[in-house]
Amino acid sequence: MKIIKTKDYEELSAEAAKILIDIVRSNPYAVLGLATGTTPLGLYKKLIADHTKNPTSYKHIRAVNLDEYKGLPKEHKQSYAYFMRKNLFEHIDIDLENAHIENGVAADEQAECERYDKLLKSMRQDIQLLGLGSNGHIAFNEPNTSFESTTHVVNLTESTIKDNARLFNNIEEVPKQAYTMGLNSIMQAKKILILASGVNKAEAVYKLVNGDVTEAVPASILQNHPDCTLIIDKEAAKLL
Ligand code: GLP
Repeated sequence: MKIIKTKDYEELSAEAAKILIDIVRSNPYAVLGLATGTTPLGLYKKLIADHTKNPTSYKHIRAVNLDEYKGLPKEHKQSYAYFMRKNLFEHIDIDLENAHIENGVAADEQAECERYDKLLKSMRQDIQLLGLGSNGHIAFNEPNTSFESTTHVVNLTESTIKDNARLFNNIEEVPKQAYTMGLNSIMQAKKILILASGVNKAEAVYKLVNGDVTEAVPASILQNHPDCTLIIDKEAAKLL
């Protein structure tokens, strides 16, 4: 695993942006695996600035997102579909038809997982961007998810519900379940870029880098990926 330690969140976002922009410029038809959460927000701002200034084009880019809350329609302000539109897609020239995410309100849960898996199989990610949960989760693959998992519905853990409650009016509003890309589908990406910022990620970062490869720490599977880059700021690197 390649590790880039940065002095702060700003530099972390700039380093991540360089890697993504390079991929988009070298392959205008690239498949980008994208992530939500607060960590990639700085990176998305930099992609938007670069698109406006340079301008890097996303006209033919295809995007697949990691996860979506179960029960939230794409118009819902807390849905990840809405997050992606507001924080990135509406500010670049991507064709929204080419931006994919699980449907949080699909009538048939099993059929929705199968639909997404089929799509992912036909669109291997040139790069998969990831954040890191404080309990070591990636996407919504909580501790003890099978390394062989494909798209599935998860019951969110108490700690994830608590972590994500800051983005809702109150903890009761946080959905208890979510659709997530599985670990196997994340690992199929040609390249992985994982970002972690802040001291509350330090323990998870330590386990990701130095711990055993175990389903108890989903992110530890990334030690087995042939091309994974971790970008962290000083605080997230505190225990390394
Ligand atoms: C959620 C998302 C993850 C994200 C994690 C960390 O659980 N499903 O994809 O990585 O939160 O979020 P943040 O970047 O806000 O710390």
